[in-house]
Amino acid sequence: MADKLKKAQVIIDPNFVVGEVDKRIYGSFIEHLGRAVYEGIYQPGNKFADKNGLRKDVMELIKEINVPIVRYPGGNFVSAYNWEDGVGPVKDRPKKIELAWGVVETNEFGLNEFMDWAKQVGTEPMYAVNLGTRGIDDAKNIVEYCNIKSGTYYSDLRIKHGVKEPHNIKLWCLGNEMDGPWQMGHRTAAEYGMLAARAGQIMKLVDPTIETVACGSSSLTMPSFGEWERTVLECSYDTTDYLSLHQYYGNHENDTPNFLANSVAMDQFITQVLSVCDYVKAVKRSKKTINLSFDEWNVWYHSNEQDKKLEKWVQHPHQLEDVYNFEDLLLVGSMMITLLRHADRVKIACLAQLVNVIAPIMTSDTGAWRQTIFYPYMHASVYGRGTALNTVVKVDTYESKHGDAPYVDSVAIYDEENGALTVFAVNKNLEEDIELNIDLRQFEGFNLKEHIMCTHDDLKAVNTEENPDNVKPVSYNGSKLEDGKLTSILPKKSWNVIRFTK
Ligand code: AHR
Repeated sequence: MADKLKKAQVIIDPNFVVGEVDKRIYGSFIEHLGRAVYEGIYQPGNKFADKNGLRKDVMELIKEINVPIVRYPGGNFVSAYNWEDGVGPVKDRPKKIELAWGVVETNEFGLNEFMDWAKQVGTEPMYAVNLGTRGIDDAKNIVEYCNIKSGTYYSDLRIKHGVKEPHNIKLWCLGNEMDGPWQMGHRTAAEYGMLAARAGQIMKLVDPTIETVACGSSSLTMPSFGEWERTVLECSYDTTDYLSLHQYYGNHENDTPNFLANSVAMDQFITQVLSVCDYVKAVKRSKKTINLSFDEWNVWYHSNEQDKKLEKWVQHPHQLEDVYNFEDLLLVGSMMITLLRHADRVKIACLAQLVNVIAPIMTSDTGAWRQTIFYPYMHASVYGRGTALNTVVKVDTYESKHGDAPYVDSVAIYDEENGALTVFAVNKNLEEDIELNIDLRQFEGFNLKEHIMCTHDDLKAVNTEENPDNVKPVSYNGSKLEDGKLTSILPKKSWNVIRFTK
């Protein structure tokens, strides 16, 4: 039987390096949206909440993923948000209508609560400023509030709010999706480019150690895509460090092969944005390189119809609560691999989002559980630290609406210092197992440690509170390493993590 298996060959060499994996590629996102903050990470009175109302059960799951950065407070929410509403005594905070999502925001949870939470889960903030309804003055003030030690109006205000030490937030988003007509304060590329340039400049005058992310397109399908990136960078090149990309995928037509081929589309998107960044670099004769922040990526479509029926002006409704299935896990694994294959230029990425809202973690009043997509994200974050190797995959392809899609997506991450090598691989073939071969003779002294694998008979299988382990990875006996050559059987429709240690 074995010789009838379809085959894939992976070629890697420790000297053929794509780039160091910046741990921020495993970032995520918490927006004031639906039940992400309220009932997600913060639920005073809940049996799992600590004395500050922070959900400890959720923190444990986030720690399991080891999330290095979390983008906050939005998303669309940030474009009409006054950060001052969410600081100071809670009893004085205004309850306001929240126009992005048509709800009521109580402001019970704000910047300082978020920073406490971030500290407890061991993550760093990526803070977005409002460049929709506000501008450079607001951007200046919030950096002063967060990063100046004391002795100025805003730093002293922070101290008055009970936060003695500065937050020292290093990474700042210059607004959110400013190309989108739905965005409050939506602007043309030139208007936004100039605003981003001036905001970035003044924020860096307050704290020269910060890094900034300018808004790229909110999706590849935006009519302004390409021109938007070019114009924004031409205006703001000198004060911008990263350009953002956002993209969500869905399986509206219930066409799994095409759905799984979306990693090809993601790869093309990254390559195209990089071309524009490098074009502007050339035109400017600049020595500086703009890298990418893919700060919203995920599957998002399951909840679309449900959300159209939502009542307006309520507090934290069940919104964007996609229940992810097994095929979503496969695509998220493939997208993670795609990001890692661009580790030289994609330095930041945020799986959007983290809890309840299009998220790997779900909560109810009685518990928290892992959605299917939790697993590839967690595996990559935990085992994918090191150097991304140029991973050549020789395998059959299938025709998709995004062009030829390989049946196997794969990337290898090498951690020379700690003697670890990990190969991530997705078999997208829905009918057949694939034999994977890797020549590892360049990795002398490495042994096979484990092969973790996730598959399911039912592509639509989900995890729920009642059945949280319906889809979960297992330790799998499908790999053998002999004379430096690895042979693995990747089961049809499977996510695989093959680990070697020295
Ligand atoms: O993540 C959900 C929303 O998707 C964000 O608020 C917005 O930036 C994007 O359109």
